[in-house]
Amino acid sequence: MARGERLIVCRSEALVDGGAGVRFEVESAGTRRPAFAVRYAGRVYAYRNRCAHVGVELDWQPGHFFDADGMVLICSTHGALYDPRTGACRGGPCRGGGLEPVAVEEVDGNVVLGTKD
Ligand code: FES
Repeated sequence: MARGERLIVCRSEALVDGGAGVRFEVESAGTRRPAFAVRYAGRVYAYRNRCAHVGVELDWQPGHFFDADGMVLICSTHGALYDPRTGACRGGPCRGGGLEPVAVEEVDGNVVLGTKD
């Protein structure tokens, strides 16, 4: 990737409000780690795909992170609930924890990693 280019996570239309997310990877300390992006209330949010309870990936099927109502993110292993806007624990065994945010933004119809700052 050339200097200044930003990694495209997906096309914006791939993320439907409260619907399926998109899995991708982020590099951290030289290691590629799983992450995901979802859309909620019109905005895109992304987090490392790592539950605050045990540290496993959340999705019960690849890309499925929301509960049946599309209102909270849910871990498929023991049912921890997370606020899609902040990643904060909203119930279940993640008490006091939260998801690690990944900075993303929408630019020209794409969801891209990082921010303009
Ligand atoms: S591993 Fe996610 S709730 Fe236990």
